[in-house]
Amino acid sequence: MTYILLTKIHIVFDCVFVFTVFTGSSAVTPVFVQKGKDVTLDVMKDGFHEDDIVFWRFNTSSVIVRFLPGKEPVVTEVYTGRVEFPQKKYSVTLKNLQESDSGVYTAQLIGNEEQIVAEHKVTVQVSPVKLTVDSVSSSSDSCNLTVTCSTQDSDITSRVTCDTTTCHQEGGESSKVTTSGASLRLYLVNSTINCNHSNQVSWTKDTKETGQTCPLMTGKNKR
Ligand SMILES: *[C@@H]1O[C@H](CO)[C@@H](O)[C@H](O)[C@H]1NC(C)=O
Ligand SMILES: *[C@@H]1O[C@H](CO)[C@@H](O)[C@H](O)[C@H]1NC(C)=O
Ligand SMILES: *[C@@H]1O[C@H](CO)[C@@H](O)[C@H](O)[C@H]1NC(C)=O
Ligand SMILES: *[C@@H]1O[C@H](CO)[C@@H](O)[C@H](O)[C@H]1NC(C)=O
Repeated sequence: MTYILLTKIHIVFDCVFVFTVFTGSSAVTPVFVQKGKDVTLDVMKDGFHEDDIVFWRFNTSSVIVRFLPGKEPVVTEVYTGRVEFPQKKYSVTLKNLQESDSGVYTAQLIGNEEQIVAEHKVTVQVSPVKLTVDSVSSSSDSCNLTVTCSTQDSDITSRVTCDTTTCHQEGGESSKVTTSGASLRLYLVNSTINCNHSNQVSWTKDTKETGQTCPLMTGKNKR
C-alpha cells in the first residue's frame, strides 16, 4: 500500500492543511486548475526566520522565484509577468495556466537546514469533467442509456434505465478514485444524471437531463 518515508513525517505534522494526502512516498497536495485560470500555492509551514531563503521550483529543476531575505522576490525570466505575490508570506500566484504548467511545484527552504515546505501536484485541465451518452435504446415504455463520465486521467461508466415516470441507475451511485487522487462520482438525482469530479480543494460537475435523450420522458410524464 502506501509507504511513508520517515523523513517526510515531520513535514506532514508541520502541515496546517488538512487536505494533504499521501501518494507514494511523499505528502503532495493535488490541485486541479482549469486552463487559463490562476492558482495560488502556499507553503505549509509557519515560523520562518528572518534570514530564510525560499525557492519555488517546477518539476524539481526549473526555478520560478527566489525569496531572499530583505529583498523583493526575484522571478525567473520565463515566468516574468505570470507570477503575483499574495499577502501570505512565500505564497505565489501563477497566472493563466496552460497544459504545459502541469507538474509538481515545490517550495524549498534553505535555512539552517534544507527542507521541502510545500509540494503541490498541479493538473491543468482543459475540460474538467465531461458526461457523455454512449448509447441509447428506447421503446414506447422504457429507455436505457449508457453514460460515461470522464476526466483527463479517469472515467466511469454506468447504465441508467427509465420507464415512463422514473429513472434509476443500475447498481446505484458509482464512484472511483482517479490516479491523481481525486474522486469521480456518477449519480442520478430524479431524472438528471450528474457527474462530480472533486478533490479536497475544488470540484466541477457536468450534468445531463435524461429527458433530452429519452423522448418518452418528455411531456406530462416528465418528472
Ligand atoms: C512535469 O512533470 C510532470 C510529471 O510530474 C510531467 O507530466 C510534465 O510533462 C513535466 N512538465 C515539464 C514541462 O517538464
Ligand atoms: C431497458 O432495460 C430493461 C431492464 O434491463 C429492459 O427490460 C428493457 O426492455 C430495456 N428497454 C429497451 C428499450 O432496451
Ligand atoms: C427530485 O424530486 C423530488 C420529488 O419529486 C423533489 O422534491 C426534489 O426537489 C427533486 N430534486 C431535484 C434536485 O430536482
Ligand atoms: C461535488 O462533490 C463535492 C465533494 O464531495 C461536494 O463538496 C460538492 O458539493 C459536490 N457538488 C455537487 C453539485 O453535488
